[in-house]
Amino acid sequence: MRVLEAILKRYSCRAYADRAVEAEKLAQVFEAARLAPSAKNLQDWRFVAVTDNEKRSRLAAVTNRPEVFAKTGLMIVACSNSDYVMTCGQAVGPIDVAIALEHISLQATELGLGTCWLGSFDAEKVREILGIPQGVAIIELMALGYPEGEGGRRTGREPIEKIVCYDEWKF
Ligand SMILES: Cc1cc2nc3c(=O)[nH]c(=O)nc-3n(C[C@H](O)[C@H](O)[C@H](O)COP(=O)(O)O)c2cc1C
Repeated sequence: MRVLEAILKRYSCRAYADRAVEAEKLAQVFEAARLAPSAKNLQDWRFVAVTDNEKRSRLAAVTNRPEVFAKTGLMIVACSNSDYVMTCGQAVGPIDVAIALEHISLQATELGLGTCWLGSFDAEKVREILGIPQGVAIIELMALGYPEGEGGRRTGREPIEKIVCYDEWKF
């Protein structure tokens, strides 16, 4: 699959089949995360892959769509150990983790899996459920699993002229 094909095919999957994801597929998905770029090559991301049914249900219960996310094959809890701030003033933690998560999402798409980013969750409850230490930032969750039925479609996007300009700020 070409990269753009995977990008076109990816969408936020909010309906999952009751089917476990094979270990080989999970290995490929996490390899895609491992190979992501990171500032200073710090690689300070940490991913807790939650397969345990009871824990997944408890995690789903602290998201905005408990009934959907309780059914995912896997819930990935993406964390950062980094408090490094780049010269430009931006913290690397969320940026590095986001890049790795999107690698995961695109690799999952190629493998016929669905994913959904999740920022609507109670981070302190997630911390408690998984025993994540206080110093570690919980950046995002990502649901991952086989889509139910035909799956879904990406939602709309702004036209290119609205988001890209050349040579000077023209928005
Ligand atoms: C950082 C981030 C956080 C998101 N959080 C949630 C969320 O909490 N719940 C949810 O259902 N979707 C969430 N989404 C999915 C977005 O709603 C979705 O990507 C957007 O509407 C575009 O739709 P598409 O991914 O199907 O193209 C999130 C996406 C991103 C990138």
